[in-house]
Amino acid sequence: MTEKTCRILLQPTHAELTTVRGMPLRDLLFEQGVEFPCGGRGRCRGCRIRLVQGTATVNAAQRDILSADELAQGWRLACQCLPETDLEIELRQWDSAILVDDTQFKFRPRQGLGVAVDLGTTTLVAQLLDLQTGNVLAVKTALNAQGRYGADVMSRIHFAVLEHGQADLQRTIREQIGGLIQQLIAAARAKGRIRDVVIVGNTVMHHLFCGVEVEPLSHYPFESPRTGLEEFAAAELGWKLEGNPTVHFLPCLGGFVGSDVLAGILATGLHQSETLVGLVDLGTNGEIVIGNRDSMLCTSTAAGPAFEGAKISMGMRACTGAVSEVLLEQGILRCHVLGNAPAQGFCGSGLVDAVAAGLELEIIAPTGRLSKGMNTWTVCPPVALTQSDVRELQLAKGAIAAGIKMLSREIGATEPAQIYLAGAFGNYVNRASAQRIGMLDFPPELIKPAGNTALLGAKMSLFELDGDGLSYTAIRKRIRHVALNLDPGFQDVFVEQMAFPPKGCVSDRH
Ligand code: FES
Repeated sequence: MTEKTCRILLQPTHAELTTVRGMPLRDLLFEQGVEFPCGGRGRCRGCRIRLVQGTATVNAAQRDILSADELAQGWRLACQCLPETDLEIELRQWDSAILVDDTQFKFRPRQGLGVAVDLGTTTLVAQLLDLQTGNVLAVKTALNAQGRYGADVMSRIHFAVLEHGQADLQRTIREQIGGLIQQLIAAARAKGRIRDVVIVGNTVMHHLFCGVEVEPLSHYPFESPRTGLEEFAAAELGWKLEGNPTVHFLPCLGGFVGSDVLAGILATGLHQSETLVGLVDLGTNGEIVIGNRDSMLCTSTAAGPAFEGAKISMGMRACTGAVSEVLLEQGILRCHVLGNAPAQGFCGSGLVDAVAAGLELEIIAPTGRLSKGMNTWTVCPPVALTQSDVRELQLAKGAIAAGIKMLSREIGATEPAQIYLAGAFGNYVNRASAQRIGMLDFPPELIKPAGNTALLGAKMSLFELDGDGLSYTAIRKRIRHVALNLDPGFQDVFVEQMAFPPKGCVSDRH
């Protein structure tokens, strides 16, 4: 260990991680499957941890929400504290039955163990659960090993179709998830038999894991004929697990809207809501659901890779050296760089903040043009924005805003009353900045970061597999997929939504 690094030991999973001193624990633990119900704003207590050894900072937000006794006993908010030394911490979320926390869900206990997997294009998170108590016994995360064949879904499809690589992609991901499950069992020293494994992911991940041809997703109209539930005995996948449990890959909702979004609906309770609400997963494909207990519509919209820092001249993933926040305080820019390191580039949340600040300072015009005579704008030296970076963000945010508008119009409402933001980027993006650039035209208090809803929905499904009425089957019957690419009006709305709101014109409706 160098002076600057800290070792973090997580209990009860015994996972050992390394981080940089002063790096928010939030960034580290989010990747470990820890959920941040209020998006890490220090308002909900849902991310409480207890220090068993070591010291971590206490800030004003923690003093507000934790009592003096709790602080003395070592309780901290993971979203607010920074490690000062090596730490051993207990995770409150994993220490208690899912039922007891008000941010969690009710379940019908089952015998045995279950595994929930969120299979993302970039990352994987797998949790081992005791189905009797609801306790999470172990968590494993990894970068998707298919990454060596291409970073995003389009390059995986390209490799699968044009380079005949579908079998390689299938073998890679099946082996990786099988290996993760073995690691979960070893880490938890679990006794008992795994009854079921539930996997959720986008449509491309579904097809590549299940052995369904991705070719129909490579061309217009981007619809696949086989998007339903796929079930396997573990042995068919080459997994040697006691009792040969059943592996369920939950069904997609259509087009590029996968079972990760279906799980998100379950996790947020959108399908039971009395008022109209939206669920938005911001990524290369922005996936959007709008609905309530009466009707639901979903769609996907090609946002491009700007939110992941790709195609941005100084873009990068959210890791050490990334500018993750840009605040404008009395006309002065203040930047936060992950890991207290020199700034190297923008991650998605920093990019959205930077453009929002540029609009306020009128360095960026509502058309997206940088001020006269400027080719670049240095935001956090040496990190700068170029004209084409702003254009990339306009494409991404225009696609999301147009998707929300089109679905709202289709469902016959002006706008939803609340928006849930799913996924890692949704957890970190500043809601006021998202509103300022016109991506989410909602006051920040109506936008709720919802954490890893895909994983939470996968867990909820694990507890339903013995029952007769499966929630995800009922949701899938009630929801309608809208193909925006087939709608002649989409292009006009998209072009309109690419512009930024002029200064002073951001909506304050409630
Ligand atoms: S208090 Fe940390 S996520 Fe809500």
